[in-house]
Amino acid sequence: MDTGQYFNRRNFTVAAVVLAAAAVLVAFAGGGYAYADSTAFCGNTCHSMKQAHATWQTSNHKELKCTECHLPHGNIVQTMIMKAKTGMHDTYHEVLKDYPAAIQLSAEGKTIVKDNCLRCHKSTVEKTGMAAGGEECQKCHRSLVHGANKTKGGIKIE
Ligand code: HEC
Ligand code: HEC
Ligand code: HEC
Repeated sequence: MDTGQYFNRRNFTVAAVVLAAAAVLVAFAGGGYAYADSTAFCGNTCHSMKQAHATWQTSNHKELKCTECHLPHGNIVQTMIMKAKTGMHDTYHEVLKDYPAAIQLSAEGKTIVKDNCLRCHKSTVEKTGMAAGGEECQKCHRSLVHGANKTKGGIKIE
């Protein structure tokens, strides 16, 4: 019997993704929520987040967890949903190693970041031009956390 037919590369990749996704779900369910929230969770283990983690570590915002800026903080339900969504998304692409060399936030991701800047700095900026017109804070403060250059996720390794 030709097992290669049944265990070809694609099937293997799909299986790996499913397993990884299952692992993430178990981590959520098993109280691993706090660990997935830690900056070490992805910064150390995911190749795609190495540079984002390194730049963050040298920034003035290194006391803050990634999730302080990258997940919505309106209410816990909203946070959990977005966390599951981005967690699955990131895991999927991390396992497939098909993320782009220069990772960028989605439009939704950018809005989340801006809302979080405002969550903490509203009182400082509300009477200045910085909060006017709903401009993204990162237009001017792009280099604040991850440096001026687009984060390199690394070259696809295969
Ligand atoms: C103080 C807020 C803040 C914290 C904390 C933070 N980031 Fe970011 N992050 C940003 C901003 C601002 C951008 C750029 C947004 C844009 O391009 O509009 C960004 C962009 C990114 C990007 C997209 C690549 C890029 O360079 O544009 C990744 C990936 C990322 N962050 C990962 C992380 C990880 C991982 C951590 C924790 C180790 C983290 N961030 C912590 C604010 C933050
Ligand atoms: C969870 C709260 C929190 C979030 C989210 C946050 N900051 Fe801050 N930020 C701080 C704290 C705390 C400090 C340091 C002390 C201070 O200025 O009060 C700081 C300092 C700063 C400073 C002055 C120091 C420096 O590094 O130049 C700027 C500018 C700034 N933040 C902009 C931003 C922007 C832009 C965002 C969104 C990308 C953001 N912050 C997200 C809490 C936050
Ligand atoms: C048009 C460009 C621009 C935009 C947009 C902008 N900023 Fe700023 N911001 C600056 C400049 C310039 C400074 C002064 C130099 C510095 O500290 O980087 C500053 C300073 C700050 C400081 C430090 C103030 C202090 O007392 O040290 C904070 C906090 C801050 N910005 C937050 C924000 C937040 C939050 C937003 C989004 C609502 C935002 N900025 C949008 C240009 C901008």
